[in-house]
Amino acid sequence: MSEEFSAGWLALREPFDRVARSRRLAARLAAALPARPRLMDLGAGTASLFRFLAPIIGRAQAWTIVDADAELLGHAFARTADWAEAHGYRITTPGRALLIHTPGGAWRIEALATDFGDDPSRLPFGAHDAVVCSALMDLVSPAWAERLAGSLRMPFLAWLNVDGRDRFRPAHPDDRLVARGFARDMRRDKGLGRAMGTDAPATLTRLFAARGFTVATAPSDWIIPPIAAPMLEAMVRGHAAAAANALPAATARIAAWEQHRLGALARGRLALTIGHRDLLALPAET
Ligand SMILES: C[S@@+](CC[C@H](N)C(=O)[O-])C[C@H]1O[C@@H](n2cnc3c(N)ncnc32)[C@H](O)[C@@H]1O
Repeated sequence: MSEEFSAGWLALREPFDRVARSRRLAARLAAALPARPRLMDLGAGTASLFRFLAPIIGRAQAWTIVDADAELLGHAFARTADWAEAHGYRITTPGRALLIHTPGGAWRIEALATDFGDDPSRLPFGAHDAVVCSALMDLVSPAWAERLAGSLRMPFLAWLNVDGRDRFRPAHPDDRLVARGFARDMRRDKGLGRAMGTDAPATLTRLFAARGFTVATAPSDWIIPPIAAPMLEAMVRGHAAAAANALPAATARIAAWEQHRLGALARGRLALTIGHRDLLALPAET
């Protein structure tokens, strides 16, 4: 893994992720699963996806959360335990698992700290009824995604894949320059080959459809209003840094764009949409 994600960033984005995620696809996945489903979450980070999806599935369930970053997995347990208690659920910690005792049954979480490496097929998919991930597939290469698709015989739901429909409002003449640099930077190798970036939704659709899966997608955009200053600031600074990294000759223009955007943000005059798509792939027999 060459790219690190801070627990602070994952916490900042979690409320935007929760609102953006497609509940229609979540319900379709939940309906396709057995009575006590076992799910594997790839690149789970702090388990934000568990906190969204487990209540929608509702019944007894067991999750394996997988990530190369053991520290993030530690945050995943701590945050999820706090979240469960805030919802009035009793928790226990048998062995290395976290068990959340809900009226619909127990929700079990175990962690697997491992780097995916080049070959996702070595992961224990066979012990699971579904594989899910969030904000991961735009970081991986088409070849990695192809090996993943070739390894799965169960439902797959990839949430929050960037699709490039980002829009800062009001418009600025250098938005396209920054967008071009940002998109180019997204394709950098993040440790799993040259990343798919904004091609992820279309490439995943093609890969899974070619293997007989029924594929459905839904928009899951972040809608970031002027009042969400910390998130807007993170996005402005992140876009500018990524664009300058990809387009070093345009550093001065990008820095001017960043200052203009931060000024608008300070005056409460900036809003942003970040385009994402969620994708559900169901195998033929589901
Ligand atoms: C953008 S974060 C998304 C985290 C989480 N799914 C969420 O939605 O909040 C990507 C996650 O993938 C993990 N990751 C990236 N490359 C990895 C690799 N090669 N092996 C295992 N995990 C990896 C990172 O540590 C990080 O937690």
